[in-house]
Amino acid sequence: MSHRPVIALLATGGTIAGAAASATDITGYAAGSLTAAALIAAVPQLGDIATLRAEQPFSIDSKDVTPAHWLQLARRVQALRDDPAITGIVLTHGTDTLEEAAWFLHLATHGDKPVVMTAAMRPATALSADGPMNLWDAVRVAGSADFRGPGVLIALGGEVYGADDFAKVHTLRPAAFGARHGGPLGLANPPARQRDGTQHGAAALARGTLEKLTDLPWVEVLHVAGGADPRLLDALREAGAAGAVLALPGNGSLPDAWQPAIDRATAAGLQLVRASRVPGGPVSARTTHPALLAAGWCGALQARVLLMLTLAAGDPALFERVARAPQ
Ligand code: SIN
Repeated sequence: MSHRPVIALLATGGTIAGAAASATDITGYAAGSLTAAALIAAVPQLGDIATLRAEQPFSIDSKDVTPAHWLQLARRVQALRDDPAITGIVLTHGTDTLEEAAWFLHLATHGDKPVVMTAAMRPATALSADGPMNLWDAVRVAGSADFRGPGVLIALGGEVYGADDFAKVHTLRPAAFGARHGGPLGLANPPARQRDGTQHGAAALARGTLEKLTDLPWVEVLHVAGGADPRLLDALREAGAAGAVLALPGNGSLPDAWQPAIDRATAAGLQLVRASRVPGGPVSARTTHPALLAAGWCGALQARVLLMLTLAAGDPALFERVARAPQ
């Protein structure tokens, strides 16, 4: 009898499945060109460490991933987490919106089996492509008892991050990833957890809610640059958005010129969040406008996903429970 872990692999596209005309081309390529079977075939050693069950929910460039894709993936991940025959789950994905997909799965799915996302910065056809080793690492982490727990993980560049503390921080270099607050949870090769991390927000959406959601409400992030025109927010209100995350200067500081547009938006029922344009650090609950939620430890992209789920679930306390904004 085999004691190899059974790992479900969900391949969704991205640069890890990208193909270029030349081995030296790392920018002009088509993401999502290779199938799940081709990704596995590139790493024959995987057969020595795991039994893989591959699926291809879709195969696209992650710039085109939408909330409908997040719902589709979350439902499938939940089914696999609930399947006693599966040890762990690996998802391959584009790096460009990886942090949002990972955070969605982190908030919305339940269970202790490792869910590990991985990706690549260089297409599969490149000299020194990083995808094969990242896939190997992700499968090992998904089969490792060290990384069991409710939080979704990201294995990239030999490191393992928690979805609550992960961001893409560079457009091109191979080591393009970082943490907003604490740093990686440990090493991928060999799989070793070095610290617990906070893993905040894991499985925060009440069990059973995911299955009831048909879509997610329209929420945008507005980047509030110095002197930005508040008519941006009026336009969003008039277009019928359900909410907006304001990526504001510093500790979520509201410019005076935005106050009237904010009053109009909140009076019309838009839920607004004070987040920050700054890459790291929390946004405190202290505010000049009581109707606004504070992003707390969530970055603006995370706050948008959390607000979508909060509004969809009809659970107003969900946002504050996960964001944990300091006073
Ligand atoms: C994508 O996000 O699908 C393309 C870019 C990448 O994977 O690095």
